[in-house]
Amino acid sequence: MLKRLLFCASTLLVSQFSLADECSTTIESNDAMQYNKSELVIPATCEDFTVTLKHTGNLPKQAMGHNWVMTKEADAQPVATAGISAGMENNYVKPDDERVIAATDIIGGGESTSTTFSVKGLNKSDAYLFFCSFPGHIGIMKGTVTFKS
Ligand code: CO
Repeated sequence: MLKRLLFCASTLLVSQFSLADECSTTIESNDAMQYNKSELVIPATCEDFTVTLKHTGNLPKQAMGHNWVMTKEADAQPVATAGISAGMENNYVKPDDERVIAATDIIGGGESTSTTFSVKGLNKSDAYLFFCSFPGHIGIMKGTVTFKS
């Protein structure tokens, strides 16, 4: 019985690890307006990719809110600027903004959220960025997204 339980548990662990390795990642953010990563590498074999964003701080989202938005590099600043006008009620992302490839909700301290998006149709040689669209955060909270085969 115990052996059987252990076997099940290890099978579960292995399948979770391979999922995590392949086509998903976790990025942390904090009260100091930082992500814990400045680059994300997506395997070119992934059809979809999932980003989980955690806020490890304590401040409420009105004061130190974070999200995770991905666009082409050239679209990042314009999308962030449009997001400021869209306001907190739209998670600082303009509704139906076609330049946005992926975006999570804005979260505050202790919260987490995630987004799953298709990477199949993306041009793997284009330059992409991820950033936080909370007003004033893109200057520090940003990183590169690249694809590896
Ligand atoms: Co932020």
